[in-house]
Amino acid sequence: MRHLIDILDLSTEEIDELVSTASDIIANPKKYSEKCHGKKLATLFFEPSTRTRLSFEAAMLELGGNVLGFSEASSSSASKGESVSDTTRVVGCYADIIAMRHPKEGAPMVASLKSSVPIINAGDGGHNHPTQTLTDLLTIHREKGRFHDLTIGLCGDLKFGRTVHSLILALSRYQNIRFVLISPDELKLPDYLIQDTLVKNNISFVETTDLQEYLPELDILYMTRVQQERFFNEADYIRLKDSYVLTREKLADAKEDLSILHPLPRVNEISVDVDDDPRACYFKQAANGKYIRMALIMKLLEVE
Ligand code: CP
Repeated sequence: MRHLIDILDLSTEEIDELVSTASDIIANPKKYSEKCHGKKLATLFFEPSTRTRLSFEAAMLELGGNVLGFSEASSSSASKGESVSDTTRVVGCYADIIAMRHPKEGAPMVASLKSSVPIINAGDGGHNHPTQTLTDLLTIHREKGRFHDLTIGLCGDLKFGRTVHSLILALSRYQNIRFVLISPDELKLPDYLIQDTLVKNNISFVETTDLQEYLPELDILYMTRVQQERFFNEADYIRLKDSYVLTREKLADAKEDLSILHPLPRVNEISVDVDDDPRACYFKQAANGKYIRMALIMKLLEVE
């Protein structure tokens, strides 16, 4: 039995296979409409979500399966003090696979230790979000046709942005990747990722506060929201929340084939006047999330 807790749980060959399956689902959806007939997905969301939970549920429904679960901790027995491990163990009696989001880093990993069914980490605190990374990789593949020879700007909240952490881990395994890490000083990428991933693997990167200076060099610009829910101090959030606001005007110096990604939800960091720019990929990216999750569910359930 396989779980997906960290994006590095998947080899690059397995990622290629998932991207290929997702592309085939997009081209031939009917072929997959009964692949998970009789199977059940449980979505255990202890933290809010729109895209991840609903795309997981849509994915299972489009595979012919069923879904059950909860969308907030207050409607589960976690509110009575039940542990994540016990909740998961019990839900494993009712479902064949579980997607879990939790505000505590490591909670899905702890859940996987006693689970009788595959656990998918659907976001754990400010740590990781591997299925968002699969979504991002499918989008990059569809836009660029490759995962190598790319300069990727990651902009915004690099400290708490779990999607950024998982994406860096994933892309660090490909050739000739360069990261431009754009953030306020208070929201820089955690040191463990700098040292254990970028420095250790000799990956080219620069840290800066200036988006405009590096924008012309980027093949991909990955914007992120400042993660209000991870701040201890409201005043700090208010001071930092509008550090970067991408507008159509600011894109004047960017490459014509730049791909602008954002895991969403957005707050102010991309102006709506960018949405009609052909370089804006973030709504296509959200749509891709369903297809790659269909591919992932089939893989973890070992459906042919
Ligand atoms: N990208 C993402 O995780 O969105 P949700 O929080 O809406 O699931």
